[in-house]
Amino acid sequence: MYLRAFKEQLLSGPVEARPHDGEYISRFERWDALASVRRRPRRDFEGKDPGHFFFPPELYPVVLHPMVASRGEGVVRGLLLQRLYDYLDFTTELENLAVIPVATKISRGRSGLNLPEHMRADAHKIVTDEAWHAQFSDDFARQIATSTGSARLGAENSAGPSFVTRLDELRDQLPHALRGVESLLFGIVSETLISGILSDIPRDDRLPSAVRELVRDHAEDEGRHHVYFRSVLRHLWPALTPSERRDVGPLVPGAIHAFLEPDYDRAAYHLGGIGLSRDEIDQVISESWPAHQVRHDISAAASQLTRYFAEVGALDDVRTRDSFAQAGLVGTVRESEQTGCTPREVTA
Ligand SMILES: [Fe+2]
Ligand SMILES: [Fe+2]
Repeated sequence: MYLRAFKEQLLSGPVEARPHDGEYISRFERWDALASVRRRPRRDFEGKDPGHFFFPPELYPVVLHPMVASRGEGVVRGLLLQRLYDYLDFTTELENLAVIPVATKISRGRSGLNLPEHMRADAHKIVTDEAWHAQFSDDFARQIATSTGSARLGAENSAGPSFVTRLDELRDQLPHALRGVESLLFGIVSETLISGILSDIPRDDRLPSAVRELVRDHAEDEGRHHVYFRSVLRHLWPALTPSERRDVGPLVPGAIHAFLEPDYDRAAYHLGGIGLSRDEIDQVISESWPAHQVRHDISAAASQLTRYFAEVGALDDVRTRDSFAQAGLVGTVRESEQTGCTPREVTA
């Protein structure tokens, strides 16, 4: 078992046979001076500005729905506290289940890609960053529970954040020989998108200052990770055979949605906790997150990442382009024909 784990690559097959260009510019040269694990203190929740909300209500629109808001400010604040707990738990699980394993494989030369030595060395720094993010998120949740006296609800029965099951579904769609690539793909997707998710919270002065500081610490590290995983994509795509690209490409929108789509199950659980019936929960969720709005928001959040995929030529494959179009991430093939633009121009 351990020997198998040692040898297992994320992308199987002989590494030497994979094309590579060797180009990589490190953003980790000053890691010792910049990384939050080196230069930021443990963030203390207690004794700081308590803030008005625990989480921005606009990022958790169920609390703005009349059937929820009418139950009073105490209920809304309680739901936003639970949303903060879910966010912290999501962060810890994302680092532990998705990012650390991928960065570890890269660091030990078992990604299956022919990566520059310096890039492998930098992956060690990402592992350390992410372990710190997981630790401080878990630690912070414990501090909040002690300080507020309100524990996180439903953790013992939770199936985990929704990206976990969505990622399993994605893996099942890959041919057996390519299983493992979804983890590289999800690493690229989550690490290039998370910096956007974290960008607004540090500026929201309705939130406790310690929450904003914690998220700012995370966001600063993720800026470097974003650049790194864009580089992973630039190495991954040319290294895949045309047949592998045709298998992997159409699954990219699924990975993007796995990461960005709201966690409806957790929201439903919390709405049940404030006394809503099953029908009321369904109504609040569908009206708070209308499908067309979710699709639009994901498309906007992923526009830069979509451009990265276009730049490496992923959208040159018809099935991949169709999959992006069906997910609303790019215009349809017909639209690009009408405008006379190539798919790369449409997305750029
Ligand atoms: Fe992180
Ligand atoms: Fe990261």
